[in-house]
Amino acid sequence: MKTLKHLFDRNLAWANEIKKSDPDFFSQLSKQQAPEYLWIGCSDSRVPANQIVNLPPGEIFVHRNIANVVVHTDLNCLSVIHFAVEVLKVKHIIVCGHYGCGGIKAAMEDTDHGLIDNWLRHIKDVSRFNAQALEEAKPEDRQNLLCEFNVIEQVRNVCSTSVIQSAWKNGANLSVHGWVYSIENGIIKDLNTSMSSHEQLLEANSAH
Ligand code: CO
Repeated sequence: MKTLKHLFDRNLAWANEIKKSDPDFFSQLSKQQAPEYLWIGCSDSRVPANQIVNLPPGEIFVHRNIANVVVHTDLNCLSVIHFAVEVLKVKHIIVCGHYGCGGIKAAMEDTDHGLIDNWLRHIKDVSRFNAQALEEAKPEDRQNLLCEFNVIEQVRNVCSTSVIQSAWKNGANLSVHGWVYSIENGIIKDLNTSMSSHEQLLEANSAH
């Protein structure tokens, strides 16, 4: 008996459906990928990159982890960014967080979650950087506000990587954006934190 047979069945039906409307889809796509976007999002099953912007396979290069964190020394994330920028030449990097993020919620709690607490440390730092604004917000708004602050911080982290810094130095046409997605209504909000140059990063850093 095949393990997880229902998933293989679903896969076959999906591939057949695509081939019916576009017989060359897979043979064309198998020759190369040329996505314009790198998506850095949360691992949450409710926030699948391609589906929520309604793009087919081949259009988005994706990295996901708990609470869409870009850690300066995370070789996994840095390698994805490097490959996307240097080889695929993506034009846009999107950091997309989401309201109701379990990672953000856990980071706000003062309880033991085990191993993941080491990862959530980075979000606790974001919380500390924005302590005053969070303190002034209504308690019921704080979690979603931290989801937004986290995205803004991760956009800066992406921009600060050696990969993006050297791409900009070499004149690459590359923008980094911060979005937040609502799992309640399926709508993405732009946090207007986009950056496309080293100067913009310096400006943002001096403002805060
Ligand atoms: Co999440």
